[in-house]
Amino acid sequence: MARSRPLGRWVTTNQTTCGLAARFVAGETMDDAVAAARKLNESGRMVSLDYLGESVHSEAEARAAADIALGMFDRIAAEKLDANISIKLTQLGLDISETLCEELVGRIVEAAQNYRNFVRIDMEGSAYTQRTVDVCRRLRARSPAVGIVLQSCLYRTEQDVRDMLAIGCRIRLCKGAYKEPASVAYPQKADVDENYQRLTRVMLQSGIYHGIATHDPRMLATARAFARHHEIGGDHFEFQMLYGIRTDLQERLVKDGYRLRVYVPFGKDWFAYFMRRLAERPANLMFLLRHVVR
Ligand code: FDA
Repeated sequence: MARSRPLGRWVTTNQTTCGLAARFVAGETMDDAVAAARKLNESGRMVSLDYLGESVHSEAEARAAADIALGMFDRIAAEKLDANISIKLTQLGLDISETLCEELVGRIVEAAQNYRNFVRIDMEGSAYTQRTVDVCRRLRARSPAVGIVLQSCLYRTEQDVRDMLAIGCRIRLCKGAYKEPASVAYPQKADVDENYQRLTRVMLQSGIYHGIATHDPRMLATARAFARHHEIGGDHFEFQMLYGIRTDLQERLVKDGYRLRVYVPFGKDWFAYFMRRLAERPANLMFLLRHVVR
């Protein structure tokens, strides 16, 4: 459904769905994102800004997305925000040409380095995993200002974690938001969770600064207990959560002295992101369906 253009047109022009999306998306403009980021910073939460969009079909669109990413670093510096940025490779032309994509991401990583900031490469569906890992690995060899996202739902991720640790690359660990076949991903949530906890322990022991991205209290408890037991200070890693999700937990972690970063998506192209957030939680979908039926 997240790839359906007619559904996308309907959802992004319907008043009810637009209202519901506002819970997960900071707004359509950079000003909206900056305002949300400032508010989060004021409450002790760091931010990762994400200009929404994926799977572009032309070089011009990819170059325009790169320009926006570069502008985000200028704006973060001008506004003195405690924020980095997240990007998606298919928004930067991965489906068009890997060379073009790597050129554009290379410019973004360079800007991140010049600003002493950081860019995180989001992980998309499994069709892109190898290419995302390859691009990140090559760029990481040029600069420490880039990191990757890995998903505990995939069988391959334990090896990817070890490979990334070997080159000193910072990882954001998440469970994975894409529907994947059993040939590449654990079909059972219990296995995804168990893998998440196992990989969290591997990452925390590495001495590299990583992001533990989850709203799941059990995953958080595992990370906290492991860090405490091994005397890994709260400044050696950060928790990460999505804008508008479990703000109660976000506030509690900050109160408990942990570093917490909120992923703040913005832009007009919010449909696919919104659909993934709905799919994660049946209650969200039921809420939407009730409104549609009404
Ligand atoms: P789980 O799905 O088990 O949820 C645990 C609890 O969190 C739920 O019981 C509920 O309370 C709450 N919750 C979770 N999702 C919710 C929702 N949509 N609405 C309301 N409540 C919700 N994925 C990916 O494939 N590539 C990526 O690059 C990223 N990037 C990313 C960055 C950050 C900062 C985060 C936090 C997450 C991602 N993700 C991602 C998404 C991730 O893979 C995963 O789909 C979601 O985080 C949900 O998984 P949880 O770990 O929260 O656990």
